[in-house]
Amino acid sequence: MPNFIDAERCEDVLILRLNRPDSLNALNTAMRDELWQYLMLLRDDFSIKSAVLYGGGDKAFSAGADITEFGTAPSIIDARAARENRDLWDLMQSLDTPLIAALQGYSFGAGLEMALYCDLRVAEHNALFALPEVKLGYIPSAGGTQTLPRHIGASDSSMMITSGNSINAEKAYQIGLIQYLTDHSQYLQFAIDLALEISQMNPKIVRAIKRSVRSSEMEISEGLAYEARVRLSLSR
Ligand code: COA
Repeated sequence: MPNFIDAERCEDVLILRLNRPDSLNALNTAMRDELWQYLMLLRDDFSIKSAVLYGGGDKAFSAGADITEFGTAPSIIDARAARENRDLWDLMQSLDTPLIAALQGYSFGAGLEMALYCDLRVAEHNALFALPEVKLGYIPSAGGTQTLPRHIGASDSSMMITSGNSINAEKAYQIGLIQYLTDHSQYLQFAIDLALEISQMNPKIVRAIKRSVRSSEMEISEGLAYEARVRLSLSR
């Protein structure tokens, strides 16, 4: 069985690479299952102090959900998958271990939504960001309607979600979607260095800070459940 995610440990940092470069690291069911396993590891293994998530190849972090899997499941399976989806994203947003997304090329759809669950986003100058679901007749369903406004506000979120158009790295930096902008040759090492720096801090304090920052927002679990209900009501 192919690995769709590779993991490597660097000191106390876990480095995860999405590994479907020929499909621009599109998230298929098997990759989602592997991501679930790694997120559980991050939740349970306290010796891992921070993690980096990046996309293999040189074109994309991830071009989103695997569109070749769309419409292939009967509705009852689809509904179950939607629940599992929500659990995956709920697990990701509730992790206490700091996550850093290292973004190159395309971060589209669920690719961007995954990055939005990370605490820090480092991107290279050619990176592009979009939630293009509206163009395919869907709403974002990996939490994007809830997470994007929390990061960049309702106005820029509406611009991105209702048009489905991409924004470039400069714009993403300007509106606070990413916090660090680097050359392509540096973005990954930059993210790893940040993760190593965080891993030197007292992990109890870092985890407490994450919990505390999270509780400063409205209950996101409710928002994710609401988005899932809207999505299911549209598929009836
Ligand atoms: N799911 C499955 N496969 C995907 C994919 C996705 N979301 N995005 C890209 N791929 C595949 C392409 O089918 C292509 O495969 P092929 O070489 O076997 O034909 C390969 O990845 C390269 O993509 P390509 O479209 O040739 O690259 P590009 O640089 O011309 O365009 C994008 C890049 C991201 C603009 C374009 O691939 C795209 O629009 N993808 C869909 C993005 C999307 O809608 N995501 C949200 C889904 S809800």
